[in-house]
Amino acid sequence: MTAIDPALDGTGRREGRRPATQVVLETEDVVVAYGGVQAVAGVSIDVRAGEVVGLIGPNGAGKSSFLAALGGQQRVASGHVRLDGHDVTRLPVHRRAALGIARTFQMTSEFGGMTVFENLMAAGVGVEGASLVNVVFRRGQQRELDRRVRGRVWEVLERFETTPIADLYGRELSGGQRRLVEIMRALMRSPKVLLLDEPMVGVAPHLVRRLVSDLKSLRDDGIALVIVEHALEVVQELCDHVNVMGLGRLIASGTYDEVVQDAAVQAAYLG
Ligand SMILES: Nc1ncnc2c1ncn2[C@@H]1O[C@H](COP(=O)(O)OP(=O)(O)O)[C@@H](O)[C@H]1O
Ligand SMILES: [Mg+2]
Repeated sequence: MTAIDPALDGTGRREGRRPATQVVLETEDVVVAYGGVQAVAGVSIDVRAGEVVGLIGPNGAGKSSFLAALGGQQRVASGHVRLDGHDVTRLPVHRRAALGIARTFQMTSEFGGMTVFENLMAAGVGVEGASLVNVVFRRGQQRELDRRVRGRVWEVLERFETTPIADLYGRELSGGQRRLVEIMRALMRSPKVLLLDEPMVGVAPHLVRRLVSDLKSLRDDGIALVIVEHALEVVQELCDHVNVMGLGRLIASGTYDEVVQDAAVQAAYLG
């Protein structure tokens, strides 16, 4: 390897280029319909290991619907979603999660009544409900799972330097801490692909920097990130590749600098 290349940024990543890694997630002509209306009208993208792919576009463009189609929360009317070349289009959320697709969720009031540690335990056993946490804490055959998941909880807490907040309740967290815990929950099962829908909402500006650097460190670990984000300075800083949606379709795709100069993108944002 060349020792010094001015085109590389601090992480050894070539500015403005996608990494030459394998495609982990791929869609082909994905359609999401609500009743007769196509919110996503045939979108094809690919996502490589260790890159951050941005998904931007005006309100109502279909970004959240598309992300949900990737995660399995939203039914795909036609088209395909592939993970590592395997068609997962018809697989339910939990099967996709087991194969390595994770999505962050905003913590509901239910999770506010659990500590950060319990939140992570719940996510680690692949259940979303607080009542099911009891299953994990049950004696007997659950003990091995309990031990394994606890180990992973500590790993994740240490990784994000959040052991000091492990015993805080969800409702006691700041906006930024909540977003971080949501990301940590999604990481409990060591995903290959992490889907994030506007993870910076409600985060104080100084904590946005922290979250951005946390997301970069996940990318550097080889995780692929797909992020819907309206703060363009975050997209510019974080995304290796940006897809722009408008009215359910992909209207541009490229580096941040390329897509913001695109006439169709400018027209879509101006409405
Ligand atoms: N559950 C739903 N039922 C019916 N229409 C929906 C539903 N969710 C979203 N839509 C519609 O689909 C379109 C795309 O929405 P969405 O995916 O939320 O876009 P974005 O995230 O880009 O703002 C919008 O017109 C929205 O009103
Ligand atoms: Mg949305």
